[in-house]
Formats: sequence, structure tokens, C-alpha cells
Amino acid sequence: MRILVLLGAPGAGKGTQAHVLARHLALPRVATGDLFRAAARDGTPLGIAAQAYMERGELVPDEITIGMLLERLEAPDAGRGVILDGFPRNRPQADALDRALADRGAAVDAALLVDVPADELLRRLTGRWLCSAAGHTYHETAYPPRVPGVCDIDGSALVQRDDDRPEVVQARLDKQLGALADVVEHYRAAGLLRTVDGRRPIAAVTSDLLDAIEPIPYWRSHP
Ligand code: AP5
Repeated sequence: MRILVLLGAPGAGKGTQAHVLARHLALPRVATGDLFRAAARDGTPLGIAAQAYMERGELVPDEITIGMLLERLEAPDAGRGVILDGFPRNRPQADALDRALADRGAAVDAALLVDVPADELLRRLTGRWLCSAAGHTYHETAYPPRVPGVCDIDGSALVQRDDDRPEVVQARLDKQLGALADVVEHYRAAGLLRTVDGRRPIAAVTSDLLDAIEPIPYWRSHP
């Protein structure tokens, strides 16, 4: 089972890169934020509970998040492994993931930190547009779609996220960066952390991420 963890501040480019890596490595992308937004759209109790935290820019409590993620890892398409986008977000989540994988005889292969300075994050998030079908990402000035309002990849309409309003973005940065630092430290201590410069163009960041996992023997021998 191959497990890649993508780490980064809100707006660092995790989702953008996770979509590309998922296609490149033929692994599913599992994004806790997407799972919460889908549950909220469906009006499930979990989704309604999560939405209140997301609107305030806070992390959803671990007792909701960890169970949801571990259940997702049981799905048949996750049998070969996954690219985790947005999980783990704090130390208890990282510990829970390690324990759950160990129970399956697996472990995190690498934690890839997409590093972007805080002043760039606000600009990225407030200008972000997402495709409504699959969440492909665009930016109104840096990476606009070929046709305004339409996804280049699947032709669906582009939308903005409720939590990309400037005041919520600022709250997300204020409330979440401390926990991210703990997770980064967790993987650094385990020798699994690889850091790439997220300020580079999207294709260059992808290339750096692929270079970062290339030395892992398992990945090299199972393309
Ligand atoms: P989630 O959906 O995970 O959001 P996030 O972590 O805040 O990250 P984003 O999706 O906003 O940003 P990204 O890093 O994916 O950047 P993107 O690629 O889109 O979580 C939302 C909420 O759900 C959380 O706030 C929390 O409440 C809750 N939640 C989720 N997981 C949780 C968990 N595990 N525990 C508890 N709560 C949880 O790119 C951003 C923009 O930049 C785009 O416009 C893109 O085009 C542009 N861009 C990307 N790369 C580049 C580049 N190289 N150069 C220039 N522009 C770029």
C-alpha cells in the first residue's frame, strides 16, 4: 500500500498538486476538505457539523475527522494506496494515521511539504476558482482557464468556495498554521519529510515532488 501525505498551509497548492500526482501515479486522491464539503452538500449530520467549523476557519474536531478518513481508506479503490490531501492536520491525526496503517502492515512512504510564505497564501485563496465537477483548480490571474468560468479539463462551471472570503481565509491561516508545524515536525522526526518550494510554477512544483519521491525504493520499482 503506497501512502503519500501532501502537507501545506491553506492555499499552498496541495489540491492542485494532488490532482496531478493522482493522475501520474494512478492513485486516488483523498481530501478531507472535499469529503466534508460533499457531506455538507448532502446535508448529512457529519456534513452539517463540519460546515460550522469550516465557516469559522477552524479545524473540524478529530473525533469527526479521523473516523471519516479511516473509513475512506477501507474503500476498494484505496487498496493500492492513496495520496492524502489535507490529512493529517495535527499531531493526534498523524498518530492515528500511523496506528491505523501499522494495523494493516503499512506506513506513510513520504510526507511532501509544499512550502509557500504566508503573504502569498491570501492572494492565492481569494483568487481561486474550482471546477464544480472534480475540483480542478484555477487562479483568476496566475492560472486562468482558457474560457472564463469553464474548466479546461472537464468543461464544468467554475465556482468559488465559501471559505475563500478574505476574512475566513485570514482565520484559517491564523488558526491552522500552528497545528501544521506540529505535523511537519512529526514527519521530520520520522525521516519522512521532503520539502519543495511551492512558489515555483505549478509544473515545476510537480516535477520537484516527483523527484522527491523517486529515491523511495518501493516507488522506483513499482511505477
Ligand atoms: P481543505 O479543503 O483541505 O482546504 P485547505 O487545506 O485550507 O487548503 P486549500 O484547499 O484551500 O488549498 P490548497 O493547498 O489545496 O491549494 P490549491 O491547490 O487549491 O480544508 C477546508 C476546511 O476543511 C479546513 O479549513 C477545515 O475546516 C476542514 N478540514 C479539512 N481537512 C481537515 C482535517 N484533516 N482536520 C480538520 N479539519 C479539516 O491552490 C490555491 C490557489 O493557488 C489556486 O487558485 C491555484 O490555482 C493557485 N496555485 C496553486 N499552485 C500554484 C503555484 N505553484 N503558483 C501560483 N498559484 C498556484
